[in-house]
Amino acid sequence: MRSNPFTFGRAVTGKDFVNRRKELKLVMEAMLSGQSLLLYSSRRLGKTSLLLEAKRRLQRKLDIAYVDLYPITSRQRLAEEIVGAAARSSLKGNLSKIAKGLTDLLSSLRPRAVLTHTGEIGIELVLSERDWKGSMADAFDFGEGLAKKRKRRMVIIFDEFQEIRNLDGLDMEKLMRTRFQLHEHASYVFCGSKRHVLSEMFSDESRALYKFAKPIMLGPMTPDVLKRFVRRRFAQAGGDISDEVTTRIIKTSRGSPYNVQRVCYEVWSLSRRAEDPALVDRAMDDIVEHSSPEFEQIWEQVKGYDQRRLLQVLAQEEKVSYGMDFVSEYALKTPSHVRRSLTLLRKKGLVSEEGRIADLFFSEWVKRQ
Ligand SMILES: Nc1ncnc2c1ncn2[C@@H]1O[C@H](COP(=O)(O)OP(=O)(O)O)[C@@H](O)[C@H]1O
Ligand SMILES: [Mg+2]
Repeated sequence: MRSNPFTFGRAVTGKDFVNRRKELKLVMEAMLSGQSLLLYSSRRLGKTSLLLEAKRRLQRKLDIAYVDLYPITSRQRLAEEIVGAAARSSLKGNLSKIAKGLTDLLSSLRPRAVLTHTGEIGIELVLSERDWKGSMADAFDFGEGLAKKRKRRMVIIFDEFQEIRNLDGLDMEKLMRTRFQLHEHASYVFCGSKRHVLSEMFSDESRALYKFAKPIMLGPMTPDVLKRFVRRRFAQAGGDISDEVTTRIIKTSRGSPYNVQRVCYEVWSLSRRAEDPALVDRAMDDIVEHSSPEFEQIWEQVKGYDQRRLLQVLAQEEKVSYGMDFVSEYALKTPSHVRRSLTLLRKKGLVSEEGRIADLFFSEWVKRQ
């Protein structure tokens, strides 16, 4: 049996990566020239994939360390992850080689290189309790020290950077700025999906990271690029997909490569000769059904009647207006109720900044209730 040529749920690189030519060029040029970046977009538009693809393409020229802030729940872990990622990207060797490289630069933190349960090389550090800022500063300077010593530029990527809020956010931002601004051999990429949180961090004059990085916004992908991708993938894997079906998929997918891959994965498993546009509806039904336990849970967490009602309207209408006609047609009480619910739903991440249900498949699920 031919395996499914579509991938979703993890970052894609190499042959799975559909070229975002312009954005990739911008990111790579910035990395090469030591310009720090702020990359943001809604979830699942391909930020992580873009950064990992840039890392892959530049591996001969630069050392690029990747730190995901999501799983990090303490400053200790943050320090260890930064040092670990920097060491792995630059020292690339066995445990003892890495251990030696560490002690030279980081003796204050008594670093130990260990094998983690996944077989990766991880770092353990001893941070000072009394002077945690001093210890963190040493960890923040590590990439720069390593790059300088090895005479090779380093880039450190912080993915899901908005999570820094949960790690002494303001203090940590200040400390980062004071250290990073002195660095000449290391530059930084901050990446995340909470646009309002990130833009406050980087464009509010009173914040430490104000204008520290050049912002790049990752938008949806164009229908043409996505169409070509879908047709090529089907063909390469020995299948075939009609123009009509492709167009239908792209139309429902809002320019999100994740949505396209998710729907195509399902269409492919229904039929390798995808000619009938009704396949797209069946694929959507299947996805919604598979995801239904998760969506039920989300729905349970939306407590207020007003918010649930608004979600139902958004699933039908795609866009709300605050006008009295609209509000009374859909029994939404008053325009100020609508506004309040919208704010709450946005905070929960269920509704996007543009005022749509953020997850296409959740939207379809709500529609079917
Ligand atoms: N350039 C791309 N080419 C093909 N698929 C992509 C691309 N970018 C993203 N995707 C799809 O979207 C999914 C989410 O991508 P990811 O990079 O994790 O997004 P983000 O970091 O913005 O949340 C991937 O699993 C993949 O299915
Ligand atoms: Mg990501």
